[in-house]
Amino acid sequence: MKLSTEEFRKALLKAAAELEQHKDELTDLDREIGDGDHGINMSRGFQAVQKELEAQEEYEDLGALSKQVGMTLIKTVGGASGPLYGTAFVKFAGAFKGKREVEGQELAAAFKEATDGIKMRGKSEFGQKTMVDIWTPFYEALEQESDLNATLDQALSDTKERVATKGRASYFGDATVGVQDPGALSSSLLLRSIVEVLS
Ligand SMILES: Nc1ncnc2c1ncn2[C@@H]1O[C@H](COP(=O)(O)OP(=O)(O)OP(=O)(O)O)[C@@H](O)[C@H]1O
Ligand SMILES: [Mg+2]
Repeated sequence: MKLSTEEFRKALLKAAAELEQHKDELTDLDREIGDGDHGINMSRGFQAVQKELEAQEEYEDLGALSKQVGMTLIKTVGGASGPLYGTAFVKFAGAFKGKREVEGQELAAAFKEATDGIKMRGKSEFGQKTMVDIWTPFYEALEQESDLNATLDQALSDTKERVATKGRASYFGDATVGVQDPGALSSSLLLRSIVEVLS
C-alpha cells in the first residue's frame, strides 16, 4: 500500500465530507453514552481542515500536510477527542517528515506511531471501547497486508459490544454495551477515506 501527499490531501477532504454527513449520527451516539457533542466537535474541526486544504492545493510533503492538519484539529475540535486526533496527526507529521510518499511497512509504522500517540495522550489501551479499538486493528492490518475495509467493519462491530471503561462513556457502564462509541465511528470514517486513496 502506498500513500502520496496529493492522495492524503484528497482523503482528508473526503473525510471532512463523510464526517459532515454523519454529524447527527455521531452526536446522537454521543448523546446516548456521552455529552452529545462529538458530531459537532468533529464537524467544526474537519470543516476548518477542509477550508485550509481548499486554500492550499500543494503541500511540500506528507509531513507538512500532517502537521498543519494536526495543529488545526488541536485548535478546533475540542473535547477529549480534539487532542487525541491532533496527536495522531502530529505523530504522522514526525513519521512522514520530508517524504512525498510512503508505502508498505513504513506506512504501517506511521499508523502505529499515531495509535501509540492516541494511547499515550488518552492513557488508554485497546479494548476500552474508544477510538483506539479502531486504530489498533487498522495498523495491524497494514502490517499484515490484510483487508483494510473488512478489518474496519469487524473492529466496529467488536467495539460496539464492549463496555466502555475509559473517558466520559465509562460513566454509563453496562448501558454502553450495544451502543457504538462515537469516536470509534468517526475514526472508521476517517480511516475508510484514507483506504480509498491507497494504491
Ligand atoms: N482516554 C481516551 N482515550 C482514547 N479515546 C478516548 C478517550 N476519551 C475519549 N475518547 C474518545 O473520544 C470520544 C469522545 O469525544 P468527544 O469529542 O465527544 O469528547 P468528550 O468525551 O465529550 O470530551 P469532554 O469530556 O472533554 O467534553 C469517545 O467516543 C472516545 O472514542
Ligand atoms: Mg462528547
